Amino acid sequence: MNLISIHELERDFIEEIFSKTSLLKEGGFPKKEPLSGKTLALIFEKPSTRTRVSFEVAMFQLGGSSIYLGQDDIQLGVREQVKDVGKVLSRYVDGIVMRTFAHERIVEMAEAADVPVINGLSDKLHPCQVLSDIYTIREKAGMRKIKVAFIGDGNNVAHSWLYGAAKVGFDLAIATPPGYEPLPEIVQSAIETAKKTGSKIEVLGDAFEAVVDADIVYTDVWASMGKEEEKEKRKEIFGNFRVTEKLIKKTGKDTLVMHCLPAHRGEEITEGVIDGPASVVLDQAENRLHVQKAILLLLLGG
Ligand code: CP
Ligand code: NVA
Repeated sequence: MNLISIHELERDFIEEIFSKTSLLKEGGFPKKEPLSGKTLALIFEKPSTRTRVSFEVAMFQLGGSSIYLGQDDIQLGVREQVKDVGKVLSRYVDGIVMRTFAHERIVEMAEAADVPVINGLSDKLHPCQVLSDIYTIREKAGMRKIKVAFIGDGNNVAHSWLYGAAKVGFDLAIATPPGYEPLPEIVQSAIETAKKTGSKIEVLGDAFEAVVDADIVYTDVWASMGKEEEKEKRKEIFGNFRVTEKLIKKTGKDTLVMHCLPAHRGEEITEGVIDGPASVVLDQAENRLHVQKAILLLLLGG
């Protein structure tokens, strides 16, 4: 089984990830080194702090090991085709985490590989991030009805939020500047799922409107990896999509603030908010480790 998109996951499987996560986090998992003898390959064509380190530490703590393959190591698609790398690595390792630009490369890898492939971020999706964010929200707020307001760029993290919120029944309001909305087909597909789970999905053009009644205000960088040359242009376009003290007050609630990180203080979020009492960004980052351990156990066996 692969983990490419939350959209493809059964609700029961997501709940299984979360219950295993709690067991692991509380130290109640019965087996000591359940992934002993197993190896995870990490193919990363973009930089990473959280995703790389949390997957590597997760493998170590579960008794297995990992191999990091950066851009210069296998030169995916240059030195060798994606499918050949997938086939060969499958003879050595028990799972592959891949971080790349074009989402289709991860799909191609998953089609070729005989071992589970996990999406560690593409330009389209970041499923491991949002799964652990949902876990964090449940940990902080319990199982009650939640509204998440996502403020910023409608790309990978926002897309995974659309799939994730719809799947678990959270309400989601995304606010982006014109031209930076999430892909219409992902919005549509999330709305279809949301009809079954009773969640409300909205895409708006006003951050202040999106945050009304929100339990969680969430943001991400304005210029994602690969868009660095647009940084200055985006600073002008995204000016009204910054998470500030004023925006948080507008929720009318004791809102929590989340950010997938890395953060650019003073751009998408103010220093006061990210370092302030409403921010749970460090617990959020920590949970990447616990949730991914559960994912590894379920996908790699043990
Ligand atoms: N949030 C996240 O995926 O961080 P990294 O890019 O550092 O892995
Ligand atoms: N949208 C960001 C997320 C980083 C975790 C990026 O793609 O760079």
